[in-house]
Amino acid sequence: MAHGVVSLKSVYARYNGRDWVLKDVTLELEEGIHVVLGGSGSGKTTLLRVIAGLIGHVYNGEVRGIVSVNGRAVLVPQLFDAFILMPTPRQELMYSLSTHVSGEHELRSETLRVAKEFGLTYLLDRPVHKLSSGERQRLAIASALSLNPDILMLDEPLAHLDKEMVDKTLESLRSRGGRALIVAEHRAKTLLLNPSTLSILEGGQLKCTGTVNDCIDLLPLYHRVVAGVETYSEAPGCLV
Ligand SMILES: Nc1ncnc2c1ncn2[C@@H]1O[C@H](COP(=O)(O)OP(=O)(O)OP(=O)(O)O)[C@@H](O)[C@H]1O
Ligand SMILES: [Mg+2]
Repeated sequence: MAHGVVSLKSVYARYNGRDWVLKDVTLELEEGIHVVLGGSGSGKTTLLRVIAGLIGHVYNGEVRGIVSVNGRAVLVPQLFDAFILMPTPRQELMYSLSTHVSGEHELRSETLRVAKEFGLTYLLDRPVHKLSSGERQRLAIASALSLNPDILMLDEPLAHLDKEMVDKTLESLRSRGGRALIVAEHRAKTLLLNPSTLSILEGGQLKCTGTVNDCIDLLPLYHRVVAGVETYSEAPGCLV
């Protein structure tokens, strides 16, 4: 894939003719892992919706500026249930995998592999509506990965996961390799993805975009410790 997988130049976005929610956002993302951090209401979800081309179509609103996206993008929304189409995890994973895996045997074995990776093996044939939130969130992420998109966008993908599944999910995302992954989160643990780009949103404006080190001064203390740029001893009492 060429450079500049996602390119935003002076982008503004708003809903229903109200105030601009994103203001003058300029962002260049290439292949690799990108994390967007920001507090509640800072515009993370809106940014992903702009990249996915949803505003003005799925959501009533308007986007101004230049948005260029090179490749097939898939967004798992914050309300991840909207992503799951099929009645059981097995059908969901097979359906997503069938977009690029062919042959019944390959499809079945890939489904089992993905299910194992995401701790879904024991509930492959359980109706989706009987799964817990964390199980459904894992399924949505596994299904999105199974589509093998060029650009995978995950909106708060760790929200309903326990510690073990957070670690496993981060590992799966880290090892995806060679493609663009954009994760919007407020949880410090996302920094364990070792992102090539960190972007920090505040009030709809991009306060920083660059390496974690470039943005270090804007990170809260706990985030800096998780990112490994500060130690507990340098930051006593930071785990609050
Ligand atoms: N569908 C919508 N219609 C109208 N306003 C919206 C819509 N979605 C978001 N907004 C508004 O846009 C602003 C930014 O919201 P957004 O959801 O992008 O923030 P966020 O950083 O993802 O927040 P959170 O961490 O709570 O998910 C907020 O003021 C919100 O109320
Ligand atoms: Mg959001």
